[in-house]
Amino acid sequence: EEPQTFYEAVGGEETFRRLVHRFYRGVVDDPLLRPMYPDEDLPGAEDRLRLFLIQYWGGPGTYSQERGHPRLRMRHNPFVIGSAERDAWLKHMHDAVTSLELPEHLEKRLWDYLVYAAHSMVNAPDA
Ligand code: HEM
Repeated sequence: EEPQTFYEAVGGEETFRRLVHRFYRGVVDDPLLRPMYPDEDLPGAEDRLRLFLIQYWGGPGTYSQERGHPRLRMRHNPFVIGSAERDAWLKHMHDAVTSLELPEHLEKRLWDYLVYAAHSMVNAPDA
């Protein structure tokens, strides 16, 4: 029997759909983050983040079929991401992660990755 992927262990596509949908519910009301995201195409942004996370955690590789190699730091270059933007992003992501009510060890693994990834996306020094 194949070892189960993290993607499967947390509940597959439905879980990532809930996670990212909940995250963007926070972003739309965030005065710091909302202006960074596309005016019209927030559903598109939601699709991109969801498909990336699904692929990262061992689910279908649709993200790269549609978008190519992730190159996430490069793709974030157009945005000024300092510690304030990072912390706002993480706040909404934390709300989203805890809303899933995953078993603690799975929640911790997901959250630790997101914290690490968010820190690595910072591209602007604090003033
Ligand atoms: C795209 C902001 C961290 C994954 C974007 C976009 C913005 C943004 C404004 C463009 C939305 C779109 O049209 O797709 C931020 C900020 C972050 C952050 C402020 C704070 C640290 C992260 C992290 C990840 C991530 C930690 C991964 C774990 C992505 C992905 C896309 C994206 C996959 C779509 C890339 C593409 O295919 O074009 N982000 N992001 N972001 N972000 Fe972030």
